[in-house]
Amino acid sequence: MAFKIIRYDIVDSTFQVARNIQDAEEYTTIVAKRQLKGRGRFGREWFSPSGGLWFTTILYPRTPVNTYSLLSLLSSLSVSKALGKITKLKPRIRWPNDVYVNGRKIAGILIESDVNGEIIEKSLVGIGVNVNFKLEHLPIELRGKATTILEECGKPIDEDTLLLEILLTLREYYEKYKRGLYNEIVAEIKREGDFVGSNVVLYTRSGKIRTLIRDLDLYGNLIIDLEGRMITLTPKDVEKLEVVKMRESESF
Ligand code: BTN
Repeated sequence: MAFKIIRYDIVDSTFQVARNIQDAEEYTTIVAKRQLKGRGRFGREWFSPSGGLWFTTILYPRTPVNTYSLLSLLSSLSVSKALGKITKLKPRIRWPNDVYVNGRKIAGILIESDVNGEIIEKSLVGIGVNVNFKLEHLPIELRGKATTILEECGKPIDEDTLLLEILLTLREYYEKYKRGLYNEIVAEIKREGDFVGSNVVLYTRSGKIRTLIRDLDLYGNLIIDLEGRMITLTPKDVEKLEVVKMRESESF
């Protein structure tokens, strides 16, 4: 089945366009060359200069709301896998919604959903990948933390090839998710990220937590060890995760 792709030169945000489309078929994707008001997680601004891949895909999961984390994690997994396949870079998932290359952020994912009772009715999967632009097109404070495919590969890639690969991979994992194959997806997420078994700093609403990540649960939520108690944190609880490089003798 082909994907319906609707293209724009400039929009405020592809979310806004996606939200206004009535009766869109599943996987309808809004792509823009530039966004003027790109949105990131926790109300942050997402810089979207031309040369990036900025899009929102419309899904109708009709899945239980307690599986919500997995929906966002499988989106990160799809971006990471597709990037690795198209570019031969070695992307890693930074739980829950970021993709990193060589320690710098190359892609971010944000999902906005309509939930009815216990069911996720509709999800807008917003994906931003820094593709064919130089870091100088980002604000100075982001240049040390972000990277682009152009910077990493030294040459541009075809954005449409990457878009198609992401959509195909997303469809594969999303269909598994709808069939309840949670274990399989979580196992892949663990392989594609370095967080399980790592010491991290988590930035949460109640402050910073330095902890060890013990595992992910069936839905991809973090299981952490907090002074001997096992606690579960969802993507909504964690604004930022930093992996801490430890000296050999150190532990939290
Ligand atoms: C994050 O890392 O904070 C998430 C960034 C998500 C950015 C994408 S770009 C396409 C879509 N439209 C938006 O306004 N945001 C998402």
